[in-house]
Amino acid sequence: MTTRTIQPNAKRLASLGRSVKSSVLNGCERAMKDHLVQAEVLSVKARFWLAMIVLSFFVSGCGAPPMNYVLSEDTKKSKLDADKQRQVASTLEDYFGTPVAPKIADSLKPLLKGNETTLAQGAASYRLRCMHCHGLSGDGHGPTAPYVLPLPRDYRKGIFKFTSTDQTANPTRDDLLHTVKNGISGTSMPSFALFEQQEIENILDYVILLSVRGQSESFFVAEVDTNDAPINRESLDEQAIFVTKRWIAAESKVVKPKVARTEATAESIDRGHKLFISEKTQCTKCHGKQGRGDGLMNDPHADPKDTKDSWGNIARPANLTLGVYRGGSRPLDLSVASIAASRVLPCPLSQRT
Ligand code: HEC
Ligand code: HEC
Repeated sequence: MTTRTIQPNAKRLASLGRSVKSSVLNGCERAMKDHLVQAEVLSVKARFWLAMIVLSFFVSGCGAPPMNYVLSEDTKKSKLDADKQRQVASTLEDYFGTPVAPKIADSLKPLLKGNETTLAQGAASYRLRCMHCHGLSGDGHGPTAPYVLPLPRDYRKGIFKFTSTDQTANPTRDDLLHTVKNGISGTSMPSFALFEQQEIENILDYVILLSVRGQSESFFVAEVDTNDAPINRESLDEQAIFVTKRWIAAESKVVKPKVARTEATAESIDRGHKLFISEKTQCTKCHGKQGRGDGLMNDPHADPKDTKDSWGNIARPANLTLGVYRGGSRPLDLSVASIAASRVLPCPLSQRT
């Protein structure tokens, strides 16, 4: 066994302000000690760089992209020049606030359940749980969106698929609650049933605000664009009042089935089949004769309007043989849907109770 002074180690330790006595080490111990000393040096370096990074945040800000709503594609495409678009953005911000500090204007007070504190909490939960799909502005352009089909809902049109209300109406708050609690089968929309009721209510307030904000922006810009309306709080308020009233009115527009449910019999199923393949309903046009969702796919002369949904995205008729119903599987989910005509083109059955 040889006695050696481990020079490099001693040097490193000295640089750490420690002294190391030369010792008798075998190969394995030496390697271990080398390793420990290196780790110590590294951890000092790491602490130094960490301190520098933290310091640089204080000096330069954290470098994250700004948390601001974006203007809609329609606003950007409108005749409004860049200056007017900036005015639109600041009028919207004055009225609806920012993603971090959303505001409840007077028009929204009768529609939302909470106050500005609970709304800000809802907005924070939304950013954590929903934004990666539905986007910061509720436009459906979150970073996860390109990887899922159907696409996450763009709330800004105020159009929702799974509603209990008639075709011209907005959804009720309960419809949205149902979606958030149950998720949407066969899609990437998850269930948030484990959340506290209060957190869900806060998020719902915020989703409704995003939707009202989106619709108001669209009507506001249309008024400025076509009727030269002034870009100020009063003209935005007019549109927001209109939009909010429609949301409130939806609560009394729930569709009730006119005919009570009948037991399924061989005859009733046969009647259903005849209706399904009839010229009158045209179900097979999209869903195919066997209901496999391949009607349009196999039709080279398909009407292009049947192939797009209300958001202009490709509509895929459901494969009815799979038994997966996005809007719910209860007979009522499907029967009420069949009474209410479709708001979500092209299927008359994309609504639920
Ligand atoms: C992993 C992606 C994803 C996340 C996360 C997500 N959603 Fe969705 N959401 C979707 C998709 C996809 C749809 C559209 C499904 C369809 O069109 O059938 C949807 C639709 C909706 C709808 C519209 C339902 C209708 O009737 O049209 C609401 C409301 C909604 N989500 C709320 C939320 C809320 C609130 C959160 C967060 C608590 C959330 N979503 C989180 C993917 C997501
Ligand atoms: C113009 C095309 C078109 C026609 C006509 C049509 N559908 Fe659909 N259908 C669709 C599309 C697209 C979907 C998927 C909707 C969605 O995104 O949830 C769908 C979905 C459905 C669903 C699933 C609903 C759910 O909750 O998942 C049922 C059930 C259905 N259609 C039945 C029918 C019946 C019955 C008829 C005839 C009365 C019919 N459809 C006519 C295009 C059509």
